[in-house]
Amino acid sequence: MAVVLIGFMGVGKSTIGQQLAKVYNKPFVDLDSAIVKHVGLAIPDIFKQKGESYFRAIESELLVKFIDQDIVLATGGGIVENPNNLGIIKKNKLNIWVDTNINTVYNRIVGDSNRPNANQKSLDEIKKLYNNRISRYNEIAYIKVGNDSDVDSCVQKIHNQIIADDEN
Ligand code: S3P
Repeated sequence: MAVVLIGFMGVGKSTIGQQLAKVYNKPFVDLDSAIVKHVGLAIPDIFKQKGESYFRAIESELLVKFIDQDIVLATGGGIVENPNNLGIIKKNKLNIWVDTNINTVYNRIVGDSNRPNANQKSLDEIKKLYNNRISRYNEIAYIKVGNDSDVDSCVQKIHNQIIADDEN
């Protein structure tokens, strides 16, 4: 069964996922990177040339492929845009919702040309998108963890919560 990281853009899912994979001695897969490899185009080019719906279709296809594997899987923030994905992720147990203060996140992602759904958006637009998605992350999350300090302590918090839950 996969350990799946969910949460908004820029919260640190990939960095945390890589660390967590080392702790659990499992392979790490970044779903965005898998999409880029599968399509042979960078994310902004997929959005521009093929459209977001094409990106979402490949994202779902690869989610199905990876979620049953014994890996740590970092998903893109928009994975919850497709209602089918919610059902697929819900069937998995260890879904970790990583969250960070939205103002911090905004400063990280607004200038990132590799993130078409954030690049050059206003704070209000990003907050709207974030608020829209929160209930869906919450619906499929097993645990929620704040990534407001450093990556190591976030990874430790995840590990501790998984152990504590195992013991109950
Ligand atoms: C998206 C998030 C991105 C990536 C794509 C769309 C979104 O992943 O999948 O740019 O709509 O939130 P990150 O969460 O890793 O930035």
